Amino acid sequence: MDNSHRWYSSIYEISKAINAKLEVRQILRVIARETLRHAGYHRLLVGLLDRTGEWLHPHMAGRDGVLRPAGRIGLDGRALGFVIHNREPLVIADLSSDCRFPNSALGAEGVRSCVVLPLESSGEILGALAVGRSTPDAFSESETAMLLEIAEQTATAVRHAQLIDQLREEKQKLAEAKDSLVHSDRLATVGRLAAHVAHEIRNPLATIGGFTHGILKSPTDAARVARNARIILEEVERLEQILANVMNFSRPGEPLLRTRCANETVEAVCAFHENAFAERSVVVHKALDPSCPEQQYDPDQIRQVLLNLIQNALDAMPNGGELTVETQNRGDHVRIVVSDTGEGMSREVIDTLFQPFYTTKVGGTGLGLSVSQKIIRDHGGRIAVVSEPGRGSSFTVSLPVDTDT
Ligand SMILES: Nc1ncnc2c1ncn2[C@@H]1O[C@H](COP(=O)(O)OP(=O)(O)OP(=O)(O)O)[C@@H](O)[C@H]1O
Ligand SMILES: [Mg+2]
Repeated sequence: MDNSHRWYSSIYEISKAINAKLEVRQILRVIARETLRHAGYHRLLVGLLDRTGEWLHPHMAGRDGVLRPAGRIGLDGRALGFVIHNREPLVIADLSSDCRFPNSALGAEGVRSCVVLPLESSGEILGALAVGRSTPDAFSESETAMLLEIAEQTATAVRHAQLIDQLREEKQKLAEAKDSLVHSDRLATVGRLAAHVAHEIRNPLATIGGFTHGILKSPTDAARVARNARIILEEVERLEQILANVMNFSRPGEPLLRTRCANETVEAVCAFHENAFAERSVVVHKALDPSCPEQQYDPDQIRQVLLNLIQNALDAMPNGGELTVETQNRGDHVRIVVSDTGEGMSREVIDTLFQPFYTTKVGGTGLGLSVSQKIIRDHGGRIAVVSEPGRGSSFTVSLPVDTDT
């Protein structure tokens, strides 16, 4: 086997070995072992730059091919530093007479001639690799060219390993950040829930207490007892409603899927609100797409969503206006659009309106939209809003159609 053929097969072996490794340390260990085994160098030195780019962490191997750490060194006055700076290979014919690198680490190990090569990948300098022999002038041009190829392979493998490391770190950080976000979001929601419940139940409890005292004071005044009992009952119903809202929010329940057409559900909800429309001088336009297919959804839950959207629209038009309810068949999903010509919303309101307990209404619980969003997401759908202050708002619910059936 001639020399260059032997070298090519060595490079092939080396590149196979280093590309199979995923960690920087393993790659450097393989490069040291294989290079020394194939070429019988006296010493090999490989140094990688740290994150600051100012320090090298060199590792050195002798004839046994075992790579050992050799501390931390600066770049100035070093052959490795020179190569890193110039990004060009450097051949030193005789270290003992080369006054540029008087404190060479390789020189101290009995190396007389050496080749130092930059480790560069995609224009980024990662460090340098040096091999040395104990005789002067021991490197031919072709051997230097081969070494350059080995350095390129090494740099690519090291860069990949570093990127994988970085990715691993980023992934870990992301996972931690997500965990703490979810945690703090949950805590914030629980905090708001507790504050909301405390605030909401205070008034009914005080009323119930006050009117019960009234009954105890004059238990024989039948008219007073009846009036107080009615008020107490109303307050109890209010408490039940608060409880139902909170339970609904914390446990919206799995959708109970039924085969229905959105048009049916919209008609039913509009019929339910008919009296309210008339009372508020709200004119209703229905634009139902007759081609809307049957689809799978929980009719009770979707009705709850539409009731809330329509109630919100009515609340936004205290002096009357127009309400439009549309359905649109979009093939793989059906859209239900509820639009009003009411007060509209500012950017800040739009950004927060799906948050639990966000309300601008006296007596509102601020749970309508957050529950609606949860329900629609549980159905694999989306809920979106566009609004302009003073002109009105439009909420679009998209519900998927199972196109396989
Ligand atoms: N159509 C709309 N026009 C203007 N503002 C709206 C509209 N829909 C919702 N909003 C705003 O979003 C807020 C949150 O609505 P959401 O339905 O979640 O709670 P709410 O209506 O205040 O209380 P409830 O829990 O009783 O529904 C409302 O208080 C209101 O400020
Ligand atoms: Mg509401």
